[in-house]
Amino acid sequence: MEAGSALGPTPLTGFKDFYQYASTTRVIAGRDLLSSTGFELQKEGARKVFVVTDEVIRGTGLVDRIEAGVTDGGLEVVGVYDQVPQDSSTQVCDDCAAAAKDAGADSFLAVGGGSVMDTAKVADAVFTHGGDARDQEGFFLMPRDDDGMGRPHDIAPLTCIPTTAGTGSEVSMAAVIKVPEENVKIEIADFPLFPRLAILDPETTRTLPPQIAAATGMDAMTHAIEGYVSTDWSPHQDARSLQALRMIRDNLERAVERGEEDEEARGNMLIAANLAITIALGSVHAMSHPCGAHFGVPHGVANAIHLPHVIRHNAAGSDEIADRYRDIGEVFDIAEPEIGEALASHITALVDRLGLPTRLSQVGVPEDGIPALVEGAMGDGTTLLNPRELSEEDYAELYRAAL
Ligand SMILES: [Fe+2]
Repeated sequence: MEAGSALGPTPLTGFKDFYQYASTTRVIAGRDLLSSTGFELQKEGARKVFVVTDEVIRGTGLVDRIEAGVTDGGLEVVGVYDQVPQDSSTQVCDDCAAAAKDAGADSFLAVGGGSVMDTAKVADAVFTHGGDARDQEGFFLMPRDDDGMGRPHDIAPLTCIPTTAGTGSEVSMAAVIKVPEENVKIEIADFPLFPRLAILDPETTRTLPPQIAAATGMDAMTHAIEGYVSTDWSPHQDARSLQALRMIRDNLERAVERGEEDEEARGNMLIAANLAITIALGSVHAMSHPCGAHFGVPHGVANAIHLPHVIRHNAAGSDEIADRYRDIGEVFDIAEPEIGEALASHITALVDRLGLPTRLSQVGVPEDGIPALVEGAMGDGTTLLNPRELSEEDYAELYRAAL
């Protein structure tokens, strides 16, 4: 059987037949960076900047301060779109692209969490290439030279300033957007979607509510764990995943409990989220995307609930998969022979200490919603990269266990 095929076991060790790795976003991290936003944006070719954000973040005054930083660098803010909802949609991306066109923008600046940054990515693609957001769906399908075989065409310069430490969207080439008419979330991924610049300053998460810090931090933890056990693993990503897990181990609870007082923990969580992100995910994300699409469960909360169940199931699949979880266990000082159970219990206890729900019934998912969730999980692209192949019955069982 072919290595990497969904039909057979994929080697999780050794020298891989093939992988590719790219991470092309310039990252600047540190203290007091917001006042030099314009200076940095100028280096990316931005002159007429269109800001994408949401009303809550705008209300904190953070956007005003960043705008002042843009103007200080001699650039112009030509418009602000602050209508991005918690779970953004294709319609929102289209509206945002049209507003940027009307404003005469030449570049985008996203200030917000995953939903804001993903909206800015898709709006930028629509702004640059035309069409609408629904047309952008797919992996590596953006316009290219030479009838689609050559170099992908750049989109307008996009800078991201994340205000949560979790999604890692500021350094990823993927976006996930809801299509409300179809009750699905579509995924868009290609090299031009890597933002040109990500600015990581703990000032942006200073007033983040603990509940959101906890949920987004668990999203980062899920990326690190799923990326490490994915069939699409790579030594490049392994190094990032394990360092992300060490930083999450040392900083997540601190950042949630001490919030405003602990700049170091908040700054380190912003960096950990960058290291953790990958498009090689697995069944936790496959289960969580439909929970968001059907029942509005926040992404990080859904991941926190599903993660232990998927670990138990995957680790029982083969010794090779269990060995991958053993590497993760080492980071947390867990060396029990039943690694799946031990790691899953450790994570459930962490989720509980963080004050997050541990069951789907606590977040409004009814038992009769399971068939629709199973269908969504089976159809989600991330399920193909899970180390153990899951059937409809497997997913139904995992959702029931998580209920
Ligand atoms: Fe995620």
